[in-house]
Amino acid sequence: MRAVSEFDNVAEHLRGRQYRWLVTGAAGFIGSNLAEALLKLGQHVTGLDNFSTGHRHNLEQVREAVGGQCWAAFHFIEGDIRDADTCARACEGIDFVLHEAALGSVTRSIEDPKRTHDVNVNGFVNMLVAARDAKVKRFVYAASSSTYGDHPGLPKMEDRIGKPLSPYAVTKYVNELYADVFARCYGVEAIGLRYFNVFGPRQDPQGAYAAVIPQWVAAMIGNRPVFINGDGETSRDFCFIDNVVQANLLAALATASTAINTVYNVALNERTSLNELYHMMRELLQERFPHLQDAQPQYKNFRAGDVRHSQADITRARESLGYAPTHDIGAGLREAMDWYVQHLASAS
Ligand SMILES: NC(=O)c1ccc[n+]([C@@H]2O[C@H](COP(=O)([O-])OP(=O)(O)OC[C@H]3O[C@@H](n4cnc5c(N)ncnc54)[C@H](O)[C@@H]3O)[C@@H](O)[C@H]2O)c1
Repeated sequence: MRAVSEFDNVAEHLRGRQYRWLVTGAAGFIGSNLAEALLKLGQHVTGLDNFSTGHRHNLEQVREAVGGQCWAAFHFIEGDIRDADTCARACEGIDFVLHEAALGSVTRSIEDPKRTHDVNVNGFVNMLVAARDAKVKRFVYAASSSTYGDHPGLPKMEDRIGKPLSPYAVTKYVNELYADVFARCYGVEAIGLRYFNVFGPRQDPQGAYAAVIPQWVAAMIGNRPVFINGDGETSRDFCFIDNVVQANLLAALATASTAINTVYNVALNERTSLNELYHMMRELLQERFPHLQDAQPQYKNFRAGDVRHSQADITRARESLGYAPTHDIGAGLREAMDWYVQHLASAS
């Protein structure tokens, strides 16, 4: 029998007590999964999003997944974190903030550094000020593995970072600096979660800045070429969404003072090359899509701003938060594949 995990304890606690949560970026990939998990645990959730990269259909899928009774505890604010008043309104009466709203994508930030800065830094400071003024219990925010920049060490350990390689990485590092300063100057309890290549249902397959897994699934299903940037030996620590949800809830409810006001890697401590990823995905899909049996990827130039290898050391999250990932990449892909096939077939 599986031992009771810290996450089991947290889930049990939440089932017995309703808190008020603010999830920014709730119409996006990670935010909508957080909202779904919290609503299923009987929590009251306010979502804030301006639909710049998120979608109404993500919220619609959350409503279907949680059912009418849980959905009644969801409240949505359509608004922009660049507007301080909107942030203040959203934080009123909130216990826990899970701040996910940001403009992702290294490539987008290289093309439009100012917009990325406005949302990811100015919007972040607005949210910190609003959380401070509303005296929330905890401010958990989406940090990023991009903060490791050009540091060559593997696996990545939280205290050893290099120089950022993109404007996006600068913004995510600045978030950590601001969170730290708000803890020191105003006593805000903040925890940053450095996500490493998260994947799962509701990750957007569309557009120039789509992440690799949904983009490839959509291409494979649609019998279009899959492009790999570089030689395919670039590697990542791909992390299934359930592990990220777990880390957020653990971070929000952590009680040890040593666990607070720091950052944590959130991934698996595994490394999968893009070539390996391609073959895992083709294997999972080829039974349903026989045209994939002889498919091969096409190789393009390396992409500016990309780090070559990424793999997280997750000791700190394990020891301080009780983080215990439930899904490795294979299990995550198997679990997500039905959703991908159902929802991306129409997008392809
Ligand atoms: N997905 C990953 O692999 C990954 C890795 C590292 C860090 N992150 C971080 O995790 C967070 C969530 O990422 P995601 O993958 O779910 O991306 P996403 O684009 O699906 O979600 C981001 C959401 O934020 C909203 N948003 C953007 N700008 C906003 C604004 N000005 N005001 C209000 N809402 C706004 C978008 O509409 C979207 O719904 C981001 O902070 C991202 O930087 C993600």
